[in-house]
Amino acid sequence: MEPFQRHRRLRNTANLRSLVRETIVTVDDLMYPIFLVHGEKQKNEVPSMPGVFHLSIDMLEQEIQELESLAIKSVILFGLPKTKDELSSEAYAEDGIVQQGIRKFKELSPEIVVATDVCLCQYNPLGHCGIVENSYVTNDKTLELLAKVAVSHAKAGADIVAPSDMMDGRIYALRQALNENGFENTPIMSYAVKYASAFYGPFRDAADSKPQFGDRKTYQMDPANLREALREAASDVAEGADFLMVKPALAYLDIIRELKMNFDLPIAAYNVSGEYSMIKAAAQNGWIDEQAVVLEMLLGMKRAGSDIILTYFAKDVARWLKG
Ligand code: PBG
Repeated sequence: MEPFQRHRRLRNTANLRSLVRETIVTVDDLMYPIFLVHGEKQKNEVPSMPGVFHLSIDMLEQEIQELESLAIKSVILFGLPKTKDELSSEAYAEDGIVQQGIRKFKELSPEIVVATDVCLCQYNPLGHCGIVENSYVTNDKTLELLAKVAVSHAKAGADIVAPSDMMDGRIYALRQALNENGFENTPIMSYAVKYASAFYGPFRDAADSKPQFGDRKTYQMDPANLREALREAASDVAEGADFLMVKPALAYLDIIRELKMNFDLPIAAYNVSGEYSMIKAAAQNGWIDEQAVVLEMLLGMKRAGSDIILTYFAKDVARWLKG
């Protein structure tokens, strides 16, 4: 016997390494976020997110062809409304931008899984995720509107609704409303554990959803807390969630792992805008190898326990994995 172990034996060749590889990222794991805007022939790059665009509905045909050619099988839709009002009316309007987008997807590519972000922050002038009264984001009144948003998305044909508001009781409220309207088979992907994070900065530019006063700390979670994440997730499971999401991902890999160990629902990780923009900026400066860094990051998210990764890199990854 040698006095030490030879771990390097299993690293001798590429084929040997792939034989013992424990985790892989495939295009099937990825959900691609899309921002929809009103108007025609719009395809405008978000300045803080190179490679991410605001798309008008008529541009979806080309977009869907690209997704199909890359074998990307799921998307999550966000919308920028024509006008904002206190009740966030466009969020649940039959001809709202997201509702139009869902119908377009279902018309052109019924197979692609269409998830929708259910929230109010893009749709009201104060930019908060609920109804504001005396400078406080109210909980229970907000639930009624969120439920209306989810039902309107389901009516338009959404395959999954994904509430990102962080109000208490929203999963229960959405489940009830969906069931009452005949959508008992529409799954809910809960942004169960969503932290009040500075990593959402570029998204708020992209979605025009910056809070106009204060911050989101009375509803999104404190980044310092792990045990609270378990309470949040347990509530959502009890209320009927079908998926649990952790957001952001990169600084919260321990939370992903903890949820994976404690709950048996599929775990999703949101590789958020700030995580995307940091890598894009460093890569544009030639400071890092973008492809290697992205694949390593997503591998880390999977290894931590996520089954699904929502990422703006989905198309890039699909191309790299193909090539
Ligand atoms: C809306 C919402 C946000 C994100 C997804 N849904 C922003 C926020 O809560 O401020 C962030 C996504 C990203 O940063 O990529 N509530």
